[in-house]
Amino acid sequence: MSARPDPADRRAAPIAAVVVLAAGGGTRMKSARSKLLHEVAGHSMLSYAVDAATAVEPQHLVVVVGHQREQVQAHLTDIAPHVRTAVQAEQKGTGHAVQCGLAELGELAGEIVVTYGDVPMLTGETLKELVTTHREAGDAITVLTAHVANPTGYGRIIRDDDDTVARIVEERDAAEHERRVTEINSGIYVFDAEVLREGLGQLTANNDQGELYLTDVISVARRSGGRVGAFVIEDLWQTEGINDRLQLSRMNAEMNRRILERWMRAGVTIADPATTWIHADVDLAEDVTLLPGTTLQGATSVATGAVIGPETTLTDVEVGENATVTRTQGSLASIGAGAVVGPFAYLRPGTILEAKGKIGTFVETKNARIGPGAKVPHLTYAGDVVIGEGANIGAGTIFANYDGVTKAVTTVGRYSFVGSNSVLTAPVTIGDGAYVAAGSAVTGDVDPGQLAVARGRQRNINGWVARKRAGSKTAEAAAEASASSDAQTQQGDQS
Ligand code: UD1
Ligand code: MG
Repeated sequence: MSARPDPADRRAAPIAAVVVLAAGGGTRMKSARSKLLHEVAGHSMLSYAVDAATAVEPQHLVVVVGHQREQVQAHLTDIAPHVRTAVQAEQKGTGHAVQCGLAELGELAGEIVVTYGDVPMLTGETLKELVTTHREAGDAITVLTAHVANPTGYGRIIRDDDDTVARIVEERDAAEHERRVTEINSGIYVFDAEVLREGLGQLTANNDQGELYLTDVISVARRSGGRVGAFVIEDLWQTEGINDRLQLSRMNAEMNRRILERWMRAGVTIADPATTWIHADVDLAEDVTLLPGTTLQGATSVATGAVIGPETTLTDVEVGENATVTRTQGSLASIGAGAVVGPFAYLRPGTILEAKGKIGTFVETKNARIGPGAKVPHLTYAGDVVIGEGANIGAGTIFANYDGVTKAVTTVGRYSFVGSNSVLTAPVTIGDGAYVAAGSAVTGDVDPGQLAVARGRQRNINGWVARKRAGSKTAEAAAEASASSDAQTQQGDQS
């Protein structure tokens, strides 16, 4: 083996490449979707692998794809355009997969990190520690290992007398005494690039599965005098791969538990962690309160003093200071400081509720800007609207924005008042300081200061019940009412 660079140089140099293995089938997911695209805390499994790999700032980052590779490649183009892919058309083992990855990159010097695409909890921090350990020891290979209670299915770490790693033996190839070893191979490693190249060149499929095992590179390295070390990780979740939906749900639960713990330590009150779900990118301030059944997704952010829940799901929603959001479903919306939402509100994309505004009970909003202090308190559909500061929208108002062909906008001016059970057929502009009488069907503009009454005038027809409903209880009640009012009138005459 040729001389390796001085350890001091190695410390300074960047990692040559990270190779993420992701060509395997994932058949146990029983899914039309690639296993790697299934999500943990709102992100694909693969995106965690790419994030961890990116954190070590390698010169090259290559993902080896195979099964359902069109989906995987399209997803990578979306989330991580800096990543290259290498195709492993047929899955002939982890050693072959790394060969495919390196073939994409050409000659490399330095170190190469190998990880898996389906190990979402592994962090960039851990990879950095692995690299640091590797560099400080000056080893040819460093393996990320863990001691587990049940090592079934994993490759076992066979240590030498001097405690270095002698080899890794797969369970199916292992002797009885080797199977009793509880230190397992995570499948994550740092290799000296030259050692890896040499080792991969010498692999044979001489094992139970007839595959080219990456793990066999260790024996090759040892034979040519290389030292192989191990970095033992305590946090077992970081080596946990996902193969089926049971493991996926357990991983999601653990990821969520960690996210909630982090937010509670950061000053967020979480009334019921068992029913609260927070995605990885959500941002919460101190003194936010989350009530039971709250789910916060996407790029949702909540400012200090706000109270969310119970039973609320917000996706990409910005919540201002001291706002309250109760039993609400919302997405791509913004809720201003001190605003009140719910219970039972549905905020669709483009909803902007300004400071101290209100979207109340059984209200649906879409593309709606509701000004400071304006109120839409009950039973309303507000689509494509601009509502001015301090305006009040009565119960049961419908903003009819769609004529079956096109959508149009309705504007309500500052401090205007729309009476209950009105329909405003867009496009319509209600000026500042105007009134709409309850029960109106408004189809034309209303100027500032005007009252619009757009409904039939009330007519009262005398004697109708006696004529048309003779003999009914209603007619009886009417007769009694008129008799007693006659009597009262007479008494009044006497006094
Ligand atoms: C492998 C290791 C084993 C280790 C375990 C940790 C080998 C020979 N064995 O076992 O020591 O304990 O991982 O989980 O390396 N892959 C490809 N192409 C292939 C084969 C696999 O891309 O041809 C990818 C898979 O998509 C997966 C990863 O490599 O992400 C591991 O493959 P898998 O078959 O799960 O590894 P094991 O055989 O379980
Ligand atoms: Mg396998």
